Amino acid sequence: MKTIESLGDLKDKRVLVRSDFNVPLDADKHITDDGRIRAALPTLKTLLDAGAKVIIVAHLGRPKGQVNPDFSLAPVATRLAELTGVKVTLAQDTVGESAQAAVAALEPGNIVLLENVRFNAAETSKDDAERAAFAEQLAALADVFVSDGFGVVHRKQASVYDVARILPAASGLLVAKEIESLGKAVNDPERPYTVVLGGSKVSDKLGVIANLLGKADRLLIGGGMAYTFLAAQGHEVGTSLLEEDQIDTVKGYLDTAKANGVELLLPVDTVVAPEFKADAPASVVAADAMPADQMGLDIGPKTRELFAQAIASSKTVVWNGPMGVFEFPAFAEGTKAVAQAISDSDAFSVIGGGDSAAAVRTLGFDESTFSHISTGGGASLELLEGKTLPGIAVLDD
Ligand code: 3PG
Repeated sequence: MKTIESLGDLKDKRVLVRSDFNVPLDADKHITDDGRIRAALPTLKTLLDAGAKVIIVAHLGRPKGQVNPDFSLAPVATRLAELTGVKVTLAQDTVGESAQAAVAALEPGNIVLLENVRFNAAETSKDDAERAAFAEQLAALADVFVSDGFGVVHRKQASVYDVARILPAASGLLVAKEIESLGKAVNDPERPYTVVLGGSKVSDKLGVIANLLGKADRLLIGGGMAYTFLAAQGHEVGTSLLEEDQIDTVKGYLDTAKANGVELLLPVDTVVAPEFKADAPASVVAADAMPADQMGLDIGPKTRELFAQAIASSKTVVWNGPMGVFEFPAFAEGTKAVAQAISDSDAFSVIGGGDSAAAVRTLGFDESTFSHISTGGGASLELLEGKTLPGIAVLDD
């Protein structure tokens, strides 16, 4: 993968940077977790210090090709100015008159943030020619391209993939760091290699589980997806999340794990409640004795201990997906216990993006106690799945 240095002297050059600024906003449009913006700073600082004119292209949410003020990058522009301390001009469009005028007026050492690239239907089009034509318009704004939106490198989209085929292109520091850390865990893990998987749906992680059954030494399964595994073992799971159509697939995974000598650990106890509510009365039951009228909302204390021990004796740990409904304090203990065990261990640790990264931050853990916290949700999962990511492959061409 080419690095920023390969682009030569960037003084006074117009550098188009793809960042992933898809951050969560509350009802008042305040950013509730700015981790992705902070993760972009090393690359931006490098470019600004080199005297480049920095033009950032990014998306927020899925506005489906329509201009929609609810998905404006305005809150991001404000936060970016605070974090970088330089002038950030938000263009009113992505490649139109406003963007062109803002870029024409851009001084070296300052930033233009283009408005949400997904306001343009061509960005995500499946039609190669349509995407390429839009990428030409993006490319016309700049001299070189830096791909640093790790969270989107699994998307074959104009601002991620096609533009890199037009302009001289390189990976930014964030993309390079993500690929190095996740790559180390995925391709060359020090063993024992343990993967902790959670989150609500097993169907989101089928490819990952299938791939890991040939790679990991231990697979620890918690979160909503665990109930489909428990059901596959013939247990009652009450009103818990259950994907009945996945039970046969999951049975296959249990057999493969046994055949491959992969230790697959499932919850031995679970915290249940009669309904999905923060203040629902919680109790702990054995995983093979769940009441028919209750739902599992977290892993129980014995499971926390079991998982913590497995993590403590590992040399590489990858974690993706919370162990329970951590947004409700009464059901956050399982997620906390896994985060704590990983934070305490000397293993090389990678926290997969999305919910687990947010959990680590909102539960107040010191980020420096983890080897790497990924900014990618889908992108980090696809790497764990062993897939080639279009936005990375194009940087090798
Ligand atoms: C993410 O939030 O994982 C990335 O920004 C990608 O978003 P997408 O799934 O809408 O492409």
